[in-house]
Amino acid sequence: MTGTDEPRPMNELLLTPDQIRDAAARMAEILVGYESSLEERPVLPELDRTALRRILDEPWPEQGRPIATLFDEFEALIVPNSAHIAHPRYLAYVLASPHGLSPFAEALSAALNQSASIWTLSPAANAIEQTVLRWLAELFGFPSDAIGHITSGGSMANLVALQAARDRKLGADARAKGLQGGHAPFRVYTSTEVHGSVDKAISMLGLGTDHLQRIAVDDAFRIRVDLLAEQIQLDRAAGFEPMCVVASAGTVTTGAFDPLPELAALCSREGLWLHVDGAYGALGVLCSRISPRLAGVEHADSIALDPHKLLFNSLEAGCVLIRDREQARQSFGQTSSYIARNTDPDLIDFTDYGPQLSRSIKAFKVWWGIRAFGRGAYQRTLDRLLDLAHSMGEAVEAHPSLELLAPVTFTAVCFRHRGLDEAGNAALLRALLDSGIAYLGPARVQGAAGLRACFTNLRTTDADIDTVLAAVTRIGDELASG
Ligand SMILES: Cc1ncc(COP(=O)(O)O)c(C=O)c1O
Repeated sequence: MTGTDEPRPMNELLLTPDQIRDAAARMAEILVGYESSLEERPVLPELDRTALRRILDEPWPEQGRPIATLFDEFEALIVPNSAHIAHPRYLAYVLASPHGLSPFAEALSAALNQSASIWTLSPAANAIEQTVLRWLAELFGFPSDAIGHITSGGSMANLVALQAARDRKLGADARAKGLQGGHAPFRVYTSTEVHGSVDKAISMLGLGTDHLQRIAVDDAFRIRVDLLAEQIQLDRAAGFEPMCVVASAGTVTTGAFDPLPELAALCSREGLWLHVDGAYGALGVLCSRISPRLAGVEHADSIALDPHKLLFNSLEAGCVLIRDREQARQSFGQTSSYIARNTDPDLIDFTDYGPQLSRSIKAFKVWWGIRAFGRGAYQRTLDRLLDLAHSMGEAVEAHPSLELLAPVTFTAVCFRHRGLDEAGNAALLRALLDSGIAYLGPARVQGAAGLRACFTNLRTTDADIDTVLAAVTRIGDELASG
C-alpha cells in the first residue's frame, strides 16, 4: 500500500499521504460493502471461536504488519463476528443504527483529536458542543443559560445530574465533606419502571440503593404521584431528607412517560430536584405525536437524553442538561496548577461542568447529522418508527398465538407467546437469536415475561416485521408442541 517514492512520515506511527489515501479508499469500500450486505447477514453471528481465540491469545506483536492486512482482517474476522446493530431486524434494547455520516464524523474527530475539556484545546469543537447543547436545550424549553455536556451516554448523564442534585442538597460543603457532613440520610424517588443506570448512579454517589424509593405505577406504567407524595411525607416523618425525584420520559421497557407537570408541581412544593431520565424517550419531543407527553419538562432541574438513540448517532453520544449552571460548576469546577485557563467571551471550559478532563468531540457527529439531514428527516424517521411499532402491535394482537404485554404507546412492543410459560418464552428468544433472523430483547411487564422489539432502526420495513413474527410464531409453536 505504500507509494515507493514517497517521503517517510515524521514518525513511524504516522502514515504517508498514499497510505492515508489507500486506507480511506479501503474504508469507503468496506462501508459500501457492509451497507449492501447487511440484509443477507445473520443479525447475530454464528461465532467463529477459532477467530476469537486468535484475537484473545495474540501476544503484543514485536513487528508491525502491512496496513492492508488489518483491513483484510476487519472484513474476514471482525465483521462476521459482530452483532449487526444496523441490520433491519436488529430490534433489541434501545440501540439505534447510526446515521450515514457517523463514521466520517468519527474519523475526522479522531484526526483533530480535540480535547473538549478546556476551550483552548478545542475552540471550534467548543462552539459546536455549545450549539448542539443550545439546540437540545431549546427543544425542552430550558433557559439559555442552562449548561450541560455531551456525555458517553444516558447512564453518565443520569450520574452527572444526580451528583448536582445531591450536592445542592448537601450545600456549600458538598465538595469538602461529601456525605460525611452530618446530614440526615437522603431519599431519591422514582417509579418501579426506572432504568438500572439510576440504581448505579445512586450507589456511585454513595447514597445507597436502599434509599431509592420505587413508587408503584398506574395502568399506563406512569408513576403514581399520589403515592409518591405520601411516601415523601412518610420519609420526612421517619427522619429522612427527600432529595430528588427521577422521572422517566420513556421507561426502558414500555416507553411510558411520567406525568411531568404533576411531578414538577410536587417537587416545587417539596423543594426537591426534578431529574428527567429521557435517555430513551426525551427526543420524542421532535415528533408531534409524542411531544405533548413531554409537557412540563421545561420545569425540570436536569434532563438526561441520548443522541446515540433517537438522533441516530454512533456510540457514544449522551447528553445531560442542567438548569442551574452555577450548581453544575460547584459540583465539578476545579482549578489546577498544571492546566492554564483563559477566559473568553464566547467559549467555555466544559471540564468545569462534568467529571471528565479529556473528552472527545462527541458533539461533532451530532452536529453534522442535524445539519446534514435537517429537523424534518428526524421527525419523519421518528414518525415512521412509531408507525412500525404500532403495526407490529396490531399484528401481535391479531395473532392467536401471541399476546401483547402492554399497549404500544412509543417505539417498544412487548409481547409473549401464549402457549409458553416464562422459561418457554426465554427459550423462544434464545432460539430466535440463534436463528440469526432477528435480534429482540427480553421484557418483563407486571410480572409476565416475554420478548421486546424496540424500533430505533433506520432500515426496518413492514416486511421485516412480517419476517420477525413469522419466525417468532414458528419457533414458539414448535416449542409449545414439544
Ligand atoms: C430509560 C433509560 N435510561 C438510561 C439508559 C442508559 O443509557 P446509556 O445506555 O446510553 O448509558 C437507557 C438505555 O437504554 C434507558 O433506556
